[in-house]
Amino acid sequence: MNLNNHLSEVKTSKIRQFDAYCSQFKDVIKLTLGQPLFPTPSPVKAKAIEAIDKNITYYTPNIGAAETIDAVLKYCKEQLGLAYGKDEILMTVGSTEALTVTLRTLLNDGDEVLIPAPVYPGYEPLVKLYGGVVKYVDTAADNFELTPEAIKKQITPRTKCIIVTDPNNPTGVTMSRQNRDRLVDYLAETGIYVIADEVYNRIIYTGDYRSLGTYDKLRKRLIIVNSFSKSHSMTGWRIGFLLADQSMVQELMKSHQYYVTAACSVTQYALQAVNDVQTEKEVAVMVHDYRECRDYAYDFLVKLGFVMPKPEGAFYLFASAEKFGMDGDEFAKRLVEQQSVAIIPGSAFSDEYKKYVRLSYCVDLDLLKTALDRIKKFVESL
Ligand SMILES: Cc1ncc(COP(=O)(O)O)c(C=O)c1O
Repeated sequence: MNLNNHLSEVKTSKIRQFDAYCSQFKDVIKLTLGQPLFPTPSPVKAKAIEAIDKNITYYTPNIGAAETIDAVLKYCKEQLGLAYGKDEILMTVGSTEALTVTLRTLLNDGDEVLIPAPVYPGYEPLVKLYGGVVKYVDTAADNFELTPEAIKKQITPRTKCIIVTDPNNPTGVTMSRQNRDRLVDYLAETGIYVIADEVYNRIIYTGDYRSLGTYDKLRKRLIIVNSFSKSHSMTGWRIGFLLADQSMVQELMKSHQYYVTAACSVTQYALQAVNDVQTEKEVAVMVHDYRECRDYAYDFLVKLGFVMPKPEGAFYLFASAEKFGMDGDEFAKRLVEQQSVAIIPGSAFSDEYKKYVRLSYCVDLDLLKTALDRIKKFVESL
């Protein structure tokens, strides 16, 4: 086939491949995907139904519906401490479209993109599709925190931007205040663009977290991508947004309007309920339950001998399987074959992380306990 050359560099997601492989096992418990188990908050669902009943089924303005933008800006201010204006936001089809549009807008052929690793596998294919070159910045040596020192090893005059994922997928690590301040100072000095992927920043178990959008010195060259997928259990609704300087938003709009025209009108309308007290109550329940799962799973796995950072955000554990005498690929494969528990091999998050496995704990606590008991049985049988 005579197709786009960049496409040949792109592989399908190993997370999805392994998840599909695991589906064949009887009674399998899946701790594979970042798919929250909760329903979307009830006020948001009610608004979507209202939108359909009222025939809100037309194209919205490219940038997003005015009422939605007001609601999302209020949400950003009240829940995330972010003060952005009406011409500094774009409603997108999940954060995935926000990332797509941003990389399409920033990259010229050969531009280098710094990506801290281990890494969410959604970035590299986009960088490659738009002619960029991925340069990984290893974080494992610094307890999975991104440091200026690690960036200095990879930055070159061709570096166009960096993607900072905080809280992180797959590690669940969030930056400490001190480290974040140092990082911001350094990034402001470099003058490269910063893409802050903050999709997990409502699922936080520490008081130390702060969005990069709250640092004035980064503002001009910062693009924040976010969505309601994880925070409001809305993965299937495909709704997100990006925040950036006004002149940057105008440029980002060019790609956005020709890719998708606008985000879905019904979903946007539903977001008018995002600031409802009941919506926030339901979000708080989710975070409370994730924290319970994190505490239980972390303590359990540490007792079994796994080594991992204690996550302060998101809903993943990234653990080394080294102690059990095999790499993450073998561990995950044998675990699902012998005990019907599906987790993701670390190699899905870049080749360097073969010794790890990722476990997603956004499931029911009782189910998680059963899965962990099975992991214990597997480990004890070795
Ligand atoms: C770090 C990170 N960024 C972005 C996304 C994409 O999410 P969405 O497009 O649903 O907002 C995900 C999904 O798992 C993710 O883990």
